[in-house]
Amino acid sequence: MAIYIFIASLLVPRIAAIPSMQKHSRSDIPVINIDWKTVLTKSKTTTTLQVVVNPLLLQNSSIHDNALKSLEYVAADYVRFVPWYPYPKLSVPEIDEPVINGDNCTTSWDFTYADPLMEDFFRSTPNVSHIINFSTTPDWMWILPNGTTYTYPDDINDIDFDYNQGTQLRDPSLKEVSDYYSRLVSWYVRGGFTDECGVYHHSGHTYEIEYWEVLNEIEAEHSIQPAFYNQLYDTIVTAIRAVSPNTKFVGLALANAQNLSYFEEFLDPSKHAVNIPLDFISYHFYGSPDEASTEAEAAQCFQQAETFLNEVSQIETIRKQLSPSTKTTLNEIGTFDPQGAVTIVPGYEVPAEYFIWSGGVFAYVFSRIAAMGIDVIGESQLVGYPGQFPSVSMVDYTTGLPNARLRVLQLIQESFAPGDELVQTNYTSESNIHAQAFVTTDGVRKLLLINKLRDAVTIQIWGLKSAKIEIVDVSTGGDIWRTEDFSGSVFNITGWATAVMTEN
Ligand SMILES: *[C@@H]1O[C@H](CO)[C@@H](O)[C@H](O)[C@H]1NC(C)=O
Ligand SMILES: *[C@@H]1O[C@H](CO)[C@@H](O)[C@H](O)[C@H]1NC(C)=O
Ligand SMILES: *[C@@H]1O[C@H](CO)[C@@H](O)[C@H](O)[C@H]1NC(C)=O
Ligand SMILES: *[C@@H]1O[C@H](CO)[C@@H](O)[C@H](O)[C@H]1NC(C)=O
Ligand SMILES: *[C@@H]1O[C@H](CO)[C@@H](O)[C@H](O)[C@H]1NC(C)=O
Ligand SMILES: *[C@@H]1O[C@H](CO)[C@@H](O)[C@H](O)[C@H]1NC(C)=O
Ligand SMILES: *[C@@H]1O[C@H](CO)[C@@H](O)[C@H](O)[C@H]1NC(C)=O
Ligand SMILES: *[C@@H]1O[C@H](CO)[C@@H](O)[C@H](O)[C@H]1NC(C)=O
Repeated sequence: MAIYIFIASLLVPRIAAIPSMQKHSRSDIPVINIDWKTVLTKSKTTTTLQVVVNPLLLQNSSIHDNALKSLEYVAADYVRFVPWYPYPKLSVPEIDEPVINGDNCTTSWDFTYADPLMEDFFRSTPNVSHIINFSTTPDWMWILPNGTTYTYPDDINDIDFDYNQGTQLRDPSLKEVSDYYSRLVSWYVRGGFTDECGVYHHSGHTYEIEYWEVLNEIEAEHSIQPAFYNQLYDTIVTAIRAVSPNTKFVGLALANAQNLSYFEEFLDPSKHAVNIPLDFISYHFYGSPDEASTEAEAAQCFQQAETFLNEVSQIETIRKQLSPSTKTTLNEIGTFDPQGAVTIVPGYEVPAEYFIWSGGVFAYVFSRIAAMGIDVIGESQLVGYPGQFPSVSMVDYTTGLPNARLRVLQLIQESFAPGDELVQTNYTSESNIHAQAFVTTDGVRKLLLINKLRDAVTIQIWGLKSAKIEIVDVSTGGDIWRTEDFSGSVFNITGWATAVMTEN
């Protein structure tokens, strides 16, 4: 989650960018033309989500049970678990530095909070692969800027965005930070570890951690420079492999995709130690509109998605050139409501329709990156709430029940999978309808439709005569989608709807 992005966007003048609402007469209604014979590419894309740890996921939270049930609906391979720095005591199991003083040696290792969160996460995501990202390094390992001090909040419910400070580790050999990760991983995969004082801590855990992501939003958190990140990555990966040899790794986790120098440095095997695996890279996108009308905000987010997709294509060029076997996970895709970005403006509620078009942005990015051959896309972030990105939530934070952002992911998961063929689907992009036809591995023909506009649009479809349509829109909200029958060629797609047609 890149905080600085939306803070910056709040500083720019507010533009009232109302999109021009084209009214189409019956004679010039947009036409979608599917050519089932022309296969563009075979999809590799798995759709999944990330779970950012916060107190609403603790077992005593009133929404705990529903939130985890919501997670079960959409648990898929590469589901990502991120204990994150605004909650140091939930995310950093060694919160204080060891005190080593002659025979008096004590450490603060404590998994009281991390363990139940981890256990619940694994229980709610059976039979899929996981990306585990204890992204936050203990603050005492970092040299604070001169003249500053910092104390983490004692109350686990407090949100503190000041935890990640300093740009220099106090142990430049990186042994301290890699030992930290080695012990943390041993706790979860090897049943325990020996601490800095030589004391053994028994956990009994034997998790299979398929993927470990090394740090998070590195350009923002501790302003880690590209070459230094490679060094950290290599050292941490080596330490983790020593205790968990089958774990694969995800690198970069960039807050945004704009600065290509990180990709050029990371994806170049010659800039790593020998035999360091570059299994996956990850980076993020959040639509961050200026405050305007819901309608203008939606239009701006779809526009920003376009910019992001251009960046993806540049990064793909670099990846294919430098390290073609490295896979990609876009593991934080979301949008912000500017009045509900971090906190919520007093008296404001994120409007129900926001979650519809935000889901539409996710569906749109999915469709486009599937065509580009991206491996994984993950929606952000299961539970958000005021203070912790309420508009990035995939559940209602008062009940834990799904909202429309989660339903869109669920609909896409139930409709599309790696191995599907994307076929030529022509339409005029000015219509603000996105359309992409797929043939599933079972030979079933499907059409994904997204209406980027608030108003219903009548469209004409050539190539699909009779179908079942499943629709997430303002009328369904967080409920399960509705189903309609389609026959003929004319379809009225409701405002901001994400719809999947399946040929009868
Ligand atoms: C779709 O567009 C392409 C490129 O413009 C064109 O070659 C093709 O004939 C069109 N197919 C259909 C079914 O309209
Ligand atoms: C849950 O328990 C923690 C202590 O483990 C406490 O700090 C927190 O306030 C509790 N939350 C609720 C909602 O009771
Ligand atoms: C060990 O720590 C305790 C409590 O902090 C202190 O009273 C004692 O003097 C220390 N002993 C040594 C040998 O440093
Ligand atoms: C997970 O796999 C086990 C063993 O194959 C199976 O019994 C179980 O039903 C699966 N659970 C889910 C949720 O798919
Ligand atoms: C803090 O100041 C000391 C003395 O001037 C200097 O040696 C050190 O590098 C400074 N540390 C940082 C993190 O700026
Ligand atoms: C790990 O999580 C952090 C915090 O969300 C994120 O910034 C980072 O990019 C993640 N790392 C990877 C490799 O995905
Ligand atoms: C990209 O990141 C590098 C390393 O932090 C920095 O030197 C460079 O100025 C950045 N480029 C842009 C365009 O921000
Ligand atoms: C679509 O909407 C138009 C205008 O509201 C209406 O005339 C038409 O019958 C509708 N078509 C379908 C297939 O529902």
